[in-house]
Amino acid sequence: MLDLGCGAGQLSFQLAQAGAANLIAIDISRTMLDLARRERNHPRVSYRREAIEQVRFGPGSFDLIISSLALHYVPDYRGLVPNIAEWLTPGGVLVYSTEHPIYTARLPGEGWVRDDHGQPAGWQIDNYFHEGPREERWFVEGVRKYHRTLSTLLDGQLESGLRVERVIEPAPSPERLERRPYEREHLRRPMFLLVRATRPV
Ligand SMILES: C[S@@+](CC[C@H](N)C(=O)[O-])C[C@H]1O[C@@H](n2cnc3c(N)ncnc32)[C@H](O)[C@@H]1O
Repeated sequence: MLDLGCGAGQLSFQLAQAGAANLIAIDISRTMLDLARRERNHPRVSYRREAIEQVRFGPGSFDLIISSLALHYVPDYRGLVPNIAEWLTPGGVLVYSTEHPIYTARLPGEGWVRDDHGQPAGWQIDNYFHEGPREERWFVEGVRKYHRTLSTLLDGQLESGLRVERVIEPAPSPERLERRPYEREHLRRPMFLLVRATRPV
């Protein structure tokens, strides 16, 4: 298996514990990899410092490729997806999450238009069809993420010969909202997009 943008290794570690035979987990950040190696060391997970857009593997190398919330940092999505498709074995599966286009297309700032009482009155997006880098504050200033339309994201898989099988826009369940009422705002606009696609046999 391959984890693209593994961060501190939570998902790779979990998959290894669940029985994954062999996992390569890549990330560009030394700090995240140090954390992963320190806190989520596992004999079947190999953490490597690589850039998603530069790493290369042979055809048919992986049964499963996962990427959790990392693809919106990659500038050349259209160049990447054919590589991912090639790295999969026939029948192999790609599962990724990314920030939702409605989320990445928000106006600079937090996205909410607020009423006179400071309450969210609506979510403002603009330049939806203007794909490319958008800078934002995310813990620090100047974090660069790439906005892409929904059709670009899904068409990337289709054009690369992958079969899109599931598309999910997760939202908090009523049970979760009982425990975390402040997450109600996530019912007003999607934040994430989850996609599962397979390479046909
Ligand atoms: C929001 S974190 C998600 C981490 C992890 N997948 C998770 O779900 O907890 C995004 C990760 O992508 C990594 N990243 C960003 N751009 C990258 C790139 N071009 N190549 C490899 N990793 C990258 C960052 O270092 C960071 O660890």
